[in-house]
Order: sequence, then C-alpha cells, then structure tokens
Amino acid sequence: MTTLSTLNKFKKAGTKFTCLTCYDSMFARMMEKAEIDTILIGDSLGMVVQGHDSTLPVTVNDMAYHTANIARSNKHALILADLPFMSYVTLPEAVANSRTLMQAGAHVIKIEGGSELCELVTTLAQAGTPTCVHLGLTPQSVNVFGGYKIQGRGDEAADKLLADAKAVVAAGAALLVLECVPAVLAKAVTDAVAVPVIGIGAGADTDGQVLVMHDMLGMAHGRVPRFIHDFLTDDRNSAHSIEGAFALYQQSVREGSFPTEQHQFS
Ligand code: KIV
Ligand code: NA
Repeated sequence: MTTLSTLNKFKKAGTKFTCLTCYDSMFARMMEKAEIDTILIGDSLGMVVQGHDSTLPVTVNDMAYHTANIARSNKHALILADLPFMSYVTLPEAVANSRTLMQAGAHVIKIEGGSELCELVTTLAQAGTPTCVHLGLTPQSVNVFGGYKIQGRGDEAADKLLADAKAVVAAGAALLVLECVPAVLAKAVTDAVAVPVIGIGAGADTDGQVLVMHDMLGMAHGRVPRFIHDFLTDDRNSAHSIEGAFALYQQSVREGSFPTEQHQFS
C-alpha cells in the first residue's frame, strides 16, 4: 500500500516512482500486479474515454464514477483524482466536490493552477484531504493558453512557476505535478520543495513520472508528443503484454532509464 509517507521516503532516498492514468477496473488490476506506485484518475478521460477534444466537458460525477471503479480494483497504489474544469472556483463548491471524490475512493485531490489555490489547499488539508497541485501546461486552461504549449519558458515565466510551486507547498500541498516545462525548471522546482514532484514532459529529475496510460501503450490519436514512449512494443517487454508494458515502465522509471533526453524540453 503506497501512501504519501512512502512517496516522501522515496523523495528523500532518491527513489524514482511511477504514476499512470487509469480509468477502469481491469487496467487498475493490471497496474496493481505491476506495482505501479500511484494512479491518477485524470480528467484526460474526457479525451481518452469520452472522445471530447479537451478536458472541459468532464463533470464531477464522471470523475467519481471512474474513481470508484478503480478504488475497488487496486489496493496497492496511492489514488489521485482530478477535480474537473470549473468545479473548484469557489471554496464551498471545491470542498463539496472534493468530498465527493474522496468518498468515491480517492486519497489525494488534484487541482490545476498556482498561488491562487493556496486558500483551497489549506482548507482541504485542514479537513483531511491532501492536494496535488498541477502546474505548467494545465489543460483546463487551454483556452487561456491558446493551445497545448510548453510552459515556463523564459526567466519571467520560470520565476513565476517556481514561486507558485513554493506558495502552494507552503499552503499545504502534498504533491506537485509539472506538465510540459523545461527540464532545468522542473529540476529547480523539485530541488526547491520538500514534497514529491511528479513530471510529464518535464525531464528525468522530478521525483516521479506520470504518463497517460493509452499513450504509453502506443494508442495514439493524432500527433504523438515527444515525451511519450511506447512500452507495449518495446523489445524489453518480452511478454508483449499490457501487464508487461506496465512492469517495464515501473522498472524503467525506478532504474532511471526513462525518461531520457529525447523525451524532454530545453
Ligand atoms: O488528466 C490527466 O491525465 C493529467 C495528467 C496528464 C497529469 O492531468
Ligand atoms: Na488532468
């Protein structure tokens, strides 16, 4: 059973850990067998499962449904669940929606943004709900960014991201996710905060790695981002199985052979 204490120990010891997105029971069971450390019920399910072209249409009920399916089926991983678009704008709404996801089986609630989340982070921590703050490319803000673009490039943007990370950790955030930021910035954030940092397209120096499950099984729809590796058809997956792909991902992250420089942004 992986807990936040496990991840904090991993960070101190320099032991790299894994996270995969997951949306249903059978895959959750296979991830349990492969001993994937943490699972994210990502609002990416709006794109991967529901066929939308962004995460914006996903509802709290959608998230609760998938979270419950996974919580029943995996007793090994720490389970993170996303609060979806516009479900945490006001404090009362955010608290009620976090309760729904925690009661569905989540252990940690993930929210996108920066220092504006501090009050919510503190409120939830005091109420027994740890948060993971997702910074960098935050897909719920795609219409603000004008597309899915790398974030934190340039001194000003990098300084802001670092300040946001420190602020939410000071407010009580238990974990951070950094998506699509330069590897040097991800390393600076990881070194600057005491809590575990999980990266996607953020280089090899974060404490953990996360990938969307379908991506790492080679199921692409459209352009394949550079930070993806297909673990299913990788020669080292000698069983050529999905379970083998999960196990190879777990092994590769632990031993530091994934990600490499070709998967990161400068
Ligand atoms: O929803 C999701 O899959 C995510 C990860 C990409 C971090 O938020
Ligand atoms: Na998400």
